[in-house]
Amino acid sequence: SDVRLWGGRFADGPAEALAKLSASVHFDWRLAPYDIAGSRAHARVLNKAGLLTDDELARMIEGLDSLEAAVADGSFTGTIADEDVHTALERGLLERLGPDLGGKLRAGRSRNDQVATLFRMYLRDHARIIGGLIAELQDALVGLAEAHPDVAMPGRTHLQHAQPVLFAHHMLAHVQPLSRDAERLRQWDERTAVSPYGSGALAGSSLGLDPEAVAADLGFERGSVGNSIDGTASRDFVAEFAFITAMIGVNLSRIAEEIIIWNTKEFSFVTLHDAFSTGSSIMPQKKNPDIAELARGKSGRLVGNLTGLMATLKALPLAYNRDLQEDKEPVFDSCDQLEVLLPAFTGMMATLTVNRERMEELAPAGFSLATDIAEWLVKQGVPFRVAHEVAGECVKVCEQQGIELEELTDEQFAKISEHLTPEVRTVLNVPGALASRNGRGGTAPSAVAVQLAEVKADLVTQ
Ligand code: ARG
Repeated sequence: SDVRLWGGRFADGPAEALAKLSASVHFDWRLAPYDIAGSRAHARVLNKAGLLTDDELARMIEGLDSLEAAVADGSFTGTIADEDVHTALERGLLERLGPDLGGKLRAGRSRNDQVATLFRMYLRDHARIIGGLIAELQDALVGLAEAHPDVAMPGRTHLQHAQPVLFAHHMLAHVQPLSRDAERLRQWDERTAVSPYGSGALAGSSLGLDPEAVAADLGFERGSVGNSIDGTASRDFVAEFAFITAMIGVNLSRIAEEIIIWNTKEFSFVTLHDAFSTGSSIMPQKKNPDIAELARGKSGRLVGNLTGLMATLKALPLAYNRDLQEDKEPVFDSCDQLEVLLPAFTGMMATLTVNRERMEELAPAGFSLATDIAEWLVKQGVPFRVAHEVAGECVKVCEQQGIELEELTDEQFAKISEHLTPEVRTVLNVPGALASRNGRGGTAPSAVAVQLAEVKADLVTQ
């Protein structure tokens, strides 16, 4: 028999080419448990509206429970002939309850309000999963900071040596964007906690159903949508989710890029654990940072998912259009990718070894203490414009002679400027440079300890 939900006015069945194009069951099947939960809630409001007797409701719930079990154990699945998950599950219900009772459930609902509701439920669950995985990565980064409270490294701008910073300061700088991502997910969830069920195809229902009861039943804390057209046609909740996941990918890619660089022979800042790196099929000596590279690569894919979705939504007239079926695969993919990437990435970060000697050897290199000379001069009353020139002159002399700043003699200092007394040497060392930047957010050990405590307190409530 024909499983289509819309056969009545058609003399002919769908062409095979149409059926193939139209089918979404191969990717929307993952919404099946949510569809069944929605059906249960819908059956209850049909009963409340007097459209299902108590006995019919009880048998309907039994049928849905049996269908849910069959979906869970794989004995019932959708097929390409079912078109989509909603059609497949109606077939399953009809098989269990017969057409008289099974055929009653569809009253007052449409696949348009169903899919909009189920998609929200699915993404809300995955926002929580991804949020949990982000917290684990943050724990790993905080762990690295905590385990290395006093290791200095070269801080960079333009990838050039800029000023020495604490390694812990740098790690915590990667934690902050992830905290904002986690906050974005929570705020998105709050906005998405509104149920479109009851909107029908677009105009609402004439059957006296109670959308607020369905919303409460399905865990939508903020009730049902205020406008049924918007409820069925809007997908900004999908686009925003795609943005947040893309942003997470981009944030991971920035850590990843540094790990890839730090792991080179030239840098040798970190060593990756064997269990979280890969070898080469031809070069026996190779140990590659594949997890970091996959993170970098997948971030492009996540951005692509967002971009494709935005292009699909652009200029769509109200209300539902079939174009909207294209909204699911990109964000399902974004969930899938992050859910395999994050655990591997966290493992890589949690197990890497920090090469303290190498970081500290390079921390003062590249004249990274030149700013300290200038700021020391300012404290002696020299205008910063002049101080900057004088410190620059020190760098020039060092470059000409192939030496570092602290290797300049007292005579050389005095020749560059009368203000450069031997006391300048007190700031020409990394610990002094670090400790002097003790304002809020700065790189001094005392300031970084405050940041660490704040981040840890934040993580507890996140
Ligand atoms: N499979 C569709 C989607 O994902 C939902 C069904 C709505 N179909 C329709 N012809 N109105 O958007």
